[in-house]
Amino acid sequence: MCGIVGALSKNAQKIVLEGLSRLEYRGYDSAGLAVQSENGTVHTRKATGKLAALRAEIEQNPLPAAALAIGHTRWATHGSATTVNAHPHSSHGPAPKVTVVHNGIIENYEELKAELKAEGYTFVSETDTETLPCLLSWALAQGQSEAEALALLTTRCRGNYAVLAVVEGAKGTRLLATRRGAPLCLGLGKGGENFVASDPLALASVTDKFVYLEDNDTVVITPEKTEVRDASGTPVTRPVQVLNLADDMAGKQGYKHFMLKEMMEQPAVAARILEAYTKDGEVQLPLTAAHAAAPAITIVACGTAYYAGMVGGYMLEELAEVPTQADVASEMRYRKKPYPKGGLMIVVSQSGETADTLAALEHAKAAGQTIIALTNVTTSSIARAAHVVIDLMAGREVAVASTKAFLAMVLVLQLVALKLAALNGQQNAATVASHLKDIHLLPMHLMNILAEAPKWEPIAEKLASAKNPTHSMLYLARGMLTPLAYEGALKMKEITYIHAEGYASGEMKHGPIALVDETLPVVNIAASNDGLFEKTISNLKEVEARHGQIILIVDEEGAKQLSYPSPTPQIPGSYPAPTHPYLIITPSVPRLLLPYTHLLPLQFLAYQTAVFKGTDVDQPRNLAKSVTVE
Ligand code: G6P
Repeated sequence: MCGIVGALSKNAQKIVLEGLSRLEYRGYDSAGLAVQSENGTVHTRKATGKLAALRAEIEQNPLPAAALAIGHTRWATHGSATTVNAHPHSSHGPAPKVTVVHNGIIENYEELKAELKAEGYTFVSETDTETLPCLLSWALAQGQSEAEALALLTTRCRGNYAVLAVVEGAKGTRLLATRRGAPLCLGLGKGGENFVASDPLALASVTDKFVYLEDNDTVVITPEKTEVRDASGTPVTRPVQVLNLADDMAGKQGYKHFMLKEMMEQPAVAARILEAYTKDGEVQLPLTAAHAAAPAITIVACGTAYYAGMVGGYMLEELAEVPTQADVASEMRYRKKPYPKGGLMIVVSQSGETADTLAALEHAKAAGQTIIALTNVTTSSIARAAHVVIDLMAGREVAVASTKAFLAMVLVLQLVALKLAALNGQQNAATVASHLKDIHLLPMHLMNILAEAPKWEPIAEKLASAKNPTHSMLYLARGMLTPLAYEGALKMKEITYIHAEGYASGEMKHGPIALVDETLPVVNIAASNDGLFEKTISNLKEVEARHGQIILIVDEEGAKQLSYPSPTPQIPGSYPAPTHPYLIITPSVPRLLLPYTHLLPLQFLAYQTAVFKGTDVDQPRNLAKSVTVE
């Protein structure tokens, strides 16, 4: 989603452009940059589309030498992706002219706009952002200090935001910043330089020292120092964190796409998690008997993390026997939910910055729940707000479509379930050790499945072809594998733009079966040992009877029992429909490993189809890696 970078340095423009390019993976649809030259004037360049377009614009209309620059990648919310709506935005009206970049949403912007119009300001864009430079300009014109003007933003603006501002004609090189809800951190330079960004990664090549700002902090940044004040206006010192971002900066390492690289890393991710969190047949996580005594658990997350949370919910109920409910954060944050006394909330988020997930966390925290955060970024807002933080250890995930983080989430949730089960007595030491013995074989099973992936390309080629006239797919599964149907369908629609729906197989008769004809690809996810095999296969037969194009992901033993000819001579997408399903066979594994072994083919099916379709695999249209607005 939107990215912010600011630099006070003699290389400001270069550093900001490079910083923005490091944030490209997050998803955006326009970009812009402003510099303040030595005489205090501010010059802005903007372009729609990728950063290359902004670089081209700057090449055509070069900017003056400057020791201050602010830049932005915009993911459109208020107003479409046009040059006028792109950031930076400047105030138009009474002096001083203020220019800002902004992440987040100013919810009461209409009300502010009306007030500021009455003060003589005019507006040129459709954005909510444009109110910010005008409000700052107005406050400064009233004689307020920079810190007071920033404080006015925090009191007058509703919503979440991170803002950088520069004031035309200001004495010296000075950058103003504030945040609420949306992330913003200072990067401390070696002397004569300072930086600020919405993600430390943007500044990885210029510093390793960062200061995370708290909600409603206001900051005046000069090349020599950073003056932070808290919400009450009192000067404060926030802790400096040294981050080693070298691994995060590693590129595709020879893979065609980040998504492929990240899928291939999954055995290593599983091994890393097991190495960190298990020892001598026990789970080692910072959970206590008090956590295990919780009468109920709520899991909140968004997107892929939500589906991982759903799988985790099945595991927590089965292993630890604690009633567990997973819900999407955007709903949970507004529910009038009677949280149980002593309840746990498990918050699952790869980025740790998802706005709805953070809000759901705060909602439950205020209701007295103990918050356990599972996140891939242990310095994130969600990590900082939680009572207990568990690192997902997936390594930085760059592709918008999440793969290795999903696997890490499910695996860590499984370990949480085992730990709570050991603590609350639902599993004894022997059963925990036996589960862990099975789980330790996971990296090997995953490697074996990855080696099979090229075999599935012919299906993907057909799915990508124009011969898939419905341009739609159905994914079906039961029990603990049902969230995989949702996740498989999500992956497919995210990166191929083929409409795909995930359904619990048992629900098929209640609607989706109406879609089935000889043109509809239906992915069935089945396992011989999940206790639901016969029922799943009955649903598959119902699709078969209506000549649906079946892709069956099934374990080796299940495939044997079904005795379809294999390899299948015809593949889905052939007409008339094949007489029997196309089989993707996974290894026979203990039941609680099925969510992992059945996951990989789903990821690859989406990836390979996208490659055949020629869509932008790593940065699909309209999507953002980290959704920092509601
Ligand atoms: C966005 C991403 C998804 C991700 C979701 C939740 O929609 O595109 O891949 O699953 O946000 O993100 P989180 O960082 O909270 O896991």
